[in-house]
Order: sequence, then structure tokens, then C-alpha cells
Amino acid sequence: MGCYRIAVVSRAVIDPDRIRELEVRENARFVADRPISTALLERSRLTMPRGVPMSWMDDLYEHPPIFVASGHGATITDVDGHEYLDMYVADMSAFCGHAPAAVVEAVGRRMALGNQFLMPGEDAIVVAEHLAARYGMPKWQFTLSATQANTEVIRLARAATGRQRIVLFDGKYHGHGDATLVVLDGDAVVPEEHGLPSWITRDARVIAFNEVEALAAALAPRDVALVLAEPAMTNVGFILPDPGYHEALRRLTRDSGTLLAIDETHTLVTAYGGLTREFGLQPDMLTIGKSIAAGVPLGAYGMTETIAAHIAPPHEHHVISGVAVDQISTGGTLFANALSMAAGRAALLDVLTEDAYVRTAELGRRMADGLRVAIDATGLPWTVVQHGSHAAYVFADQPPRTGAEARAADDPTLRALMRVWMANRGVWESGWWLGPTVSVAHTTADVDRYVRVFGECLADLVAG
Ligand SMILES: Cc1ncc(COP(=O)(O)O)c(C=O)c1O
Repeated sequence: MGCYRIAVVSRAVIDPDRIRELEVRENARFVADRPISTALLERSRLTMPRGVPMSWMDDLYEHPPIFVASGHGATITDVDGHEYLDMYVADMSAFCGHAPAAVVEAVGRRMALGNQFLMPGEDAIVVAEHLAARYGMPKWQFTLSATQANTEVIRLARAATGRQRIVLFDGKYHGHGDATLVVLDGDAVVPEEHGLPSWITRDARVIAFNEVEALAAALAPRDVALVLAEPAMTNVGFILPDPGYHEALRRLTRDSGTLLAIDETHTLVTAYGGLTREFGLQPDMLTIGKSIAAGVPLGAYGMTETIAAHIAPPHEHHVISGVAVDQISTGGTLFANALSMAAGRAALLDVLTEDAYVRTAELGRRMADGLRVAIDATGLPWTVVQHGSHAAYVFADQPPRTGAEARAADDPTLRALMRVWMANRGVWESGWWLGPTVSVAHTTADVDRYVRVFGECLADLVAG
């Protein structure tokens, strides 16, 4: 992975004894202030591994998980009655804000009329038409999550090109589908976690983002079906593309007969039509999910007419299961269900409006400026990266360009301390891989409060 331009500087500036002292104090306070969550965790451990219904709910935090009672607008409230300003927005899936009125109404109405038929309704057409206009991809299919959208996109690419390999970027995350759960160990591609099939390492190449030469080398054997890329990387901090990088990516994929899919699942919060529209990208496929139905399960992928032609009926009639069928493997019983489509229609048309993006981008700039002022006040040599509603602060004096640089700049202990410190003062900070996001429901006062608490946290870190 070569040499890193970035060195961890935070520890050099913040006294390690101070960090340890604050860790003990803040973690003890976090637990002491939440007796009901603590009791519920004890109870839930009897029936659920790690005491949670999905293990990430424990994994995502160094402090114990809290149990949530409700969410409204830009805030969430836990079962102990603490209200938090939500800067995490459920890993961007709550970008519409919590319980947006238009979606609450649409979901209630749809539920009363029946929610699951395994047949299309008119909402699906409205959503597909809207997405076609918004993202510039003419044809759409729907799933329940972005993971499933990416899984189908990879299958389509393999079927369309007759190739198996995919290219991914170091530090990426595209969901929990087998094919993308690989990482680099030195130069070798290895499974990211346990329980994954061994073929995934053979069929993937993982390269550094923003490095044109590495991309050219990965595509040179002309055996790659698909490059799957976020337009800006959002799961290893926030890495913006170098000028010209996307042009090179499109040119090299076209020259090598490789398809290109842009995963806008996170970046769709940064611009109306995503960065695909803002940067004028021309992918063959585009995936979205999370916030497009205000967190009601809905994933989607758009595609060109050429790709869409591969989603064709089989030549033979179906027989009872047990024989190979000559069609692309897509779909699921609950995919594109009436409730998800109704929520998607309301969220896209009534909440995620062009005006909402103008406003959240303004607030995103205000947030980034405020974070920079707070950082400068302490003399810490940190950087803030921001685009639209999303930002990330980096414990280094320049923004990372690759996943390796982002990891080199990270300091998990410090990040965990800052999160628990802010939680104790009513701010729900984002996860360690991400950075704060302003939702459609946030106000100027919310952003200013976040920046103030962040500044107070830094002042306490460097004190003593
Ligand atoms: C860029 C990107 N794509 C896809 C996904 C998968 O989304 P989901 O977990 O909703 O399937 C994520 C989740 O964080 C993501 O960040």
C-alpha cells in the first residue's frame, strides 16, 4: 500500500492521560444515566446474541447500546427520556428526518388499503418515473435494501459481460452481499469477516480510490464485469474524488469493456440526483436505498436501456422448481411491496425536494465552517471534508485521498471518547466510519448546537 502522506497527529497533541481519564468518567456517566436501557439490555441478552436484534446495533458503538423510544424531526429519545440531536441519522437512512409527516400519512393510508400483494401498483410507476428524471437512468428495479440492489447489479453485469470479476475500492462498503465483502491484506484480497464463501476473493480486485494507474492495471486483463464505486467514498471517512478521476474511471471502463455502477446509497444525501447528476457521471447502473423511502425498506437500481434488455422473460415456460432457467436472477417476495413504494413516493416527491437539498447543503457548509472554527480554537491540526449535507472531520492536517490514508489518520479511541462525551450532552454523533450529516429536518439552531457541543468536547480534551 506504499507510504502514507498522513500521520496520526491527534495523540501527539492530546495528552494520552487526559484521554484515559475522560474515557473512565464519560463511560461511567453514560451507563449511570441510563438505568432503563441497562435493564433492557440485560433482559434482551437472554433471547438475542449481544442483546440486540441485529448485531450491528451493538457493534456500531463502543459504549453499550441504548434502547430508543421515538424519533421526531432531528431528534431521537431513548427509553430513559434523554433527547439527542441526531447527527448520525441512522447511517444516513434517516436523512428525511424522523417521522416526516408526508411519509407517516402515506404509510398509514397504504397500510389501511393493504400493503403486500406481489403485484404492481401505480405508486411504482410514479416512483420509477421520478427516479428516471432525477437520476438520468431510464429503467428501474426495486429491492428492499441497497445491499440487494448491489447484489442484483453485480449479477446483471456478470450476465451482460460474460465475465466474473468485479473491481472495488479499498475502504468501500456496498452492503452485506457476499461478493463485495472483501478487503486487502497487503496485496492479497481476503474475506472481510467470517462465514463468507471462498470464491469472493478470487472474483474481486480491490484497488485504491483516486489512483488512475491502479485502475488501469486492474482493468487491463479485460476480465472485469463491473467496477462498483461510490462517487465519493463515505464509509472510510469522506473522500472526495480528485479532479478528473471520474472521467478516467469512465474512459478506462469503456475501453476495457467493463460496466460501471455508481452506488449513491449514501451520497444521495449530498445533492439532488446524487453526485452522478452533480458531476455529470454516466454510469451503466446506479444504486440507491436507505433514505429514499425515509427509512422504510426500499432499495432501487437504475440502468441504461442496454442493460435493461437483459431483464427479459425466459424462453421456456416455468416448471416446478428444480431446473435451470435462462433469465437473470433477481427479485424477492417482499421487494417493491406496496408499503415501500408508497413510502418512497411520499419521501421522494414531498420530502427530498430540490429545495430540501439547497437548504441541507447550506446547513452542511455552516456545520463544516463551525467545526473548522472549533478545531482552530484548540490548535488541533485536523481537517474537515464537506460536500452538501455531509461532512467528516479527520485527525490529520490534510484530507485523505485513499482508504489507506484515511485509516492512517484515524484514532478509534479518540473517536469513541468524543462520541460518548457528546451523547452525555444530548448529541448523537455519527459512527466512526462516517461523519455527521444534516437531515432535511435539521435547523440552523440544531447545527449551531452541534458545533457548540463539538467545540466544548474539544476544549475538554485539550484541557488539564
Ligand atoms: C454505499 C453503500 N451502499 C450500500 C449499503 C447497504 O445498505 P443497506 O445496509 O441498507 O443494504 C451501504 C450501507 O451502509 C452503503 O454505505
